Amino acid sequence: MRLITSSMKIIEKIADMRQLRLKLAEPVGFVPTMGYLHEGHLFLVKQARIENPSVVVSIFVNPTQFGPRDDFERYPREPERDLALLEKEETDIVFTPSIAEMYPDQFDSWIEVGRFTQRLEGASRPGHFRGVTTVVAKLFNIVRPSKAYFGQKDAQQAIVIKKMVADLNMNVEVVTLPTVRELNGLAMSSRNTYLGPKERQAAAVLYQALSLAQELWSQGETDAERLRQEMIALIQREPLAEIDYVSVANAETLEELDRVRPPALVSLAVRIGSTRLIDNVVL
Ligand code: PAJ
Repeated sequence: MRLITSSMKIIEKIADMRQLRLKLAEPVGFVPTMGYLHEGHLFLVKQARIENPSVVVSIFVNPTQFGPRDDFERYPREPERDLALLEKEETDIVFTPSIAEMYPDQFDSWIEVGRFTQRLEGASRPGHFRGVTTVVAKLFNIVRPSKAYFGQKDAQQAIVIKKMVADLNMNVEVVTLPTVRELNGLAMSSRNTYLGPKERQAAAVLYQALSLAQELWSQGETDAERLRQEMIALIQREPLAEIDYVSVANAETLEELDRVRPPALVSLAVRIGSTRLIDNVVL
């Protein structure tokens, strides 16, 4: 049994993070987050803990990945609870920079991944991935992880980050881990906290639609449009749900499919009341 030594360090300054990084045992596992942690985040941290002698987690609600009509201001924050959870997972370092630390006044450089960011979330949220790739590149430069852990919940984000790492020759292995769900199938998300009790029930419709696509596919359906239409029909039966997109795409190129050929990414974005939720499965 390993004793839990309470030696977790909380670092706010980039310079201090760099200093401490020099003393960490290799390899270093890294989990970037925006906080308000749930079991999905903690699953990534647990896996990082298993695979690496050193684990760094960042908590930073990154303003540049939110659009003007997005929820940056009201994004949930509960730092003390997050730190207690990370301490339980035996995290070595929590990096919690301020906005001024990450984006000083003169900040003016951006990382943009091409085609992959034009579709799905990129089409619905212009500029979103530019903010994600820029902040993740900065975090990689500061933390210099051996391995970085991302969730399949944000499938396109993981694909875009892998593309950035490959194209820009970043020296980090990107690991994608499966989506952690509630008992009713709802993918865990910090944004679920916006849902009232009725909305939380209604939100199960996302996974029901994805499960329907999986079932039809396993019964031999290969017409991608039929899968989309069946999912749309199911979601439309839920009065609180409003569809943003329903997609059946090539899981590597993210191009929409006519015929389903594995690996296919079935993904959707649905508004439940004022809360925009995303989810996906791979066929
Ligand atoms: P955040 O939404 O906090 O998510 C941090 C990581 O947790 C991401 O890799 C995300 O895919 C993963 N995650 C979230 N919910 C999950 C679930 N139910 N199961 C498994 N993994 C899950 O994603 C971001 O933050 C930001 O865009 C970030 C990468 C930190 C850049 O700002």
